[in-house]
Amino acid sequence: MIDLRSDTVTRPTPGMRQAMAAAEVGDDVYGEDPTVQALEARVAALFGHEAALFAPTGSMANQIAIQTLVPPAHELLCDADAHVVTYEIGAAAAIGGVSTRTWGPSGGAIDVSAVAAMVRPDGFHAVPTRAIAVEQTHNRSGGEVIPLSTLQALRSVADEAGIGLHCDGARIWHAHVATAVPLTVYGGLFDTLSVCLSKGLGTPIGSVFVSTAERVAAGRVIRKRMGGGMRQVGVLAAAGLYALDHHVERLADDHARAARLAAALAPFGVVDPAAVQTNIVLLDLSKSTVDAATLAGRARAGGVLVSVLGPRLCRLITHLDVSDEDVDRAAEVLAAALR
Ligand SMILES: Cc1ncc(COP(=O)(O)O)c(C=O)c1O
Repeated sequence: MIDLRSDTVTRPTPGMRQAMAAAEVGDDVYGEDPTVQALEARVAALFGHEAALFAPTGSMANQIAIQTLVPPAHELLCDADAHVVTYEIGAAAAIGGVSTRTWGPSGGAIDVSAVAAMVRPDGFHAVPTRAIAVEQTHNRSGGEVIPLSTLQALRSVADEAGIGLHCDGARIWHAHVATAVPLTVYGGLFDTLSVCLSKGLGTPIGSVFVSTAERVAAGRVIRKRMGGGMRQVGVLAAAGLYALDHHVERLADDHARAARLAAALAPFGVVDPAAVQTNIVLLDLSKSTVDAATLAGRARAGGVLVSVLGPRLCRLITHLDVSDEDVDRAAEVLAAALR
């Protein structure tokens, strides 16, 4: 099977497994795992921040960040399609007591003045806004990159309002590789980031919460409260260190493969190749005779797995376990399924 459902389906490579097997470990709840500490220091430095915290998932790292920025009964603003409000099962409200209000969805094309107008001041009439969250790259819009100028403008909005700015950077590596914007430049724009090792970078597990030393100390308590204190997880952190050494620059290959898939399927009127910026290809089947479930079923029968995001929307994601040959084979199968 050629699995294009998500970049979370990758399996650790032999080199990564060797690094994991050789990792020096200790009890990380006691602060004694040297490999976890090395990963945290490395990721903090990559984004130009003081500190970082290893978390089991991107969802937990996002929710830790939100809880450090937004007190209970206060508000977070984000895109209507953001992972933090779509796929984290109401965690902001259920765990953090945080209210969320959304714009759009707008993918990478955020209307900054509209977001600025949503910010509510402290007071007893309305829920006060305490943070804005963005997603880089934006998953449900098809891996769109939010332009640097938009992020800079949002930083100014946050500064003027005295509120926080969070980045769900599950795929910020892709934005960095696609635009050549340095990670430190992205890092400098946000109060908190959550960056994933288990998506494009190909580790079996792991995300990192990045911020000031003070917020990371608070985040360590929040992580423990949520059951995320982990023990000899240097074996997992070692996979992250290996991925940072070997799997960042190669994301350009995934982007090229996504572009190739889009070009092959463009004649069917289901995708505009110009809209594909990173490793995600959305197939808009609104004008096709084939609906999403039918396409996914035919693809599966041909040995290709795709995600169904809506009745007429499918998603394909390229990743570490998808080769050039896989892309060509998948394009043939999908083309036949669309005919
Ligand atoms: C944009 C985005 N943020 C956060 C996450 C959460 O990651 P996890 O599945 O590790 O909780 C994902 C997962 O795919 C994602 O796509």
